[in-house]
Amino acid sequence: MIGTEYMGLELKSPVIVSSGPLTQNIVSLKKAEEAGAGAVVLKSIFEEQIEADVSSEFEGNAEYLAHSSAEEFFASSSRDYYIDRYMKLLSEAKKELSIPVIASVSAKDMDSWIDYADRFVKCGADGIELNYYPISSDARVSGAEVDKRLISFAEKARKAIAAPLSIKMGYKYSSLAYVISELDKAGIDGLVLFNRFFRPDIDIESLEMTSGSPVSQSDEYGEALRWIGLMSGEIKADLCGNTGIHDGATAVKMLLSGAKAVEVCTAVIQKGFSVIGEINSFISGWMEKHGFSSCSDFIGLLSQEHIADGWKWERTQFLKTIGS
Ligand SMILES: Cc1cc2nc3c(=O)[nH]c(=O)nc-3n(C[C@H](O)[C@H](O)[C@H](O)COP(=O)(O)O)c2cc1C
Repeated sequence: MIGTEYMGLELKSPVIVSSGPLTQNIVSLKKAEEAGAGAVVLKSIFEEQIEADVSSEFEGNAEYLAHSSAEEFFASSSRDYYIDRYMKLLSEAKKELSIPVIASVSAKDMDSWIDYADRFVKCGADGIELNYYPISSDARVSGAEVDKRLISFAEKARKAIAAPLSIKMGYKYSSLAYVISELDKAGIDGLVLFNRFFRPDIDIESLEMTSGSPVSQSDEYGEALRWIGLMSGEIKADLCGNTGIHDGATAVKMLLSGAKAVEVCTAVIQKGFSVIGEINSFISGWMEKHGFSSCSDFIGLLSQEHIADGWKWERTQFLKTIGS
């Protein structure tokens, strides 16, 4: 009854366990399925991490690897090692789980990303989720150029990958609506709104840069809700809510705004896998209360195109001051 379709995949629940610490080994992946998850997204394979590890290994072995062809051989076999390890987890997950298993790649360079993704599809991945979000810190590069890079990346990936393909996005684009609709035109099947990225912080005692909290707060879902509400009626691609979805009520809000599914990470880290069952039960209890017999009956019911005062999704100012 709470089943949904996301990127052409049949999910028995709209709750997907998102890429992260809970999806990096087979024990947790099985727990996610047992708890009622509709799908899992494996922990990303990070191109940057592979590169960093390869270069630090290379430095440690430089005297044996002085020849440039030796360096090349070393780099490619180290890369193969990471990819093989990832494929081992993917094959194991495909063997042990009956829910869809989505592989996730965090990419910097187009060609190697496509190569990894292609191998994962051949290994049985039900879909590929692509992370591509370079910080635009080069003042010589315009917003239009940043958008173009993402869009042409998506176009190239779409042509090369014969599997459902999603992009897990950030929201800092000058015209997010334009970027989303171009990704849709490129034939991307799913857009995950929004990834929650590393947030820099500073330790004022040690005078060092540190990392901000990796986990979300339960009130961080507003931007995803807004953009799903604004865009779900405009595009063919399926939208998936992410960031700050900690309970069933927030999952229902995402579906009402037009999400076909939601990805959760922090809630499972903090409350354990049982939270997935709690979210599922909340959704079905809420549906019963409101007389909906399937998720498709209410997905997008409050999106911009479906409500009379749809302009509210575009609202940026609080019209009344607090207390007035
Ligand atoms: C410790 C940690 C590791 C993560 N690793 C990844 C990752 O490898 N790939 C990815 O796409 N997202 C990763 N994420 C982000 C989550 O998948 C998710 O997008 C983010 O936490 C927001 O969702 P939430 O509010 O439910 O936590 C990670 C999150 C955490 C907390």
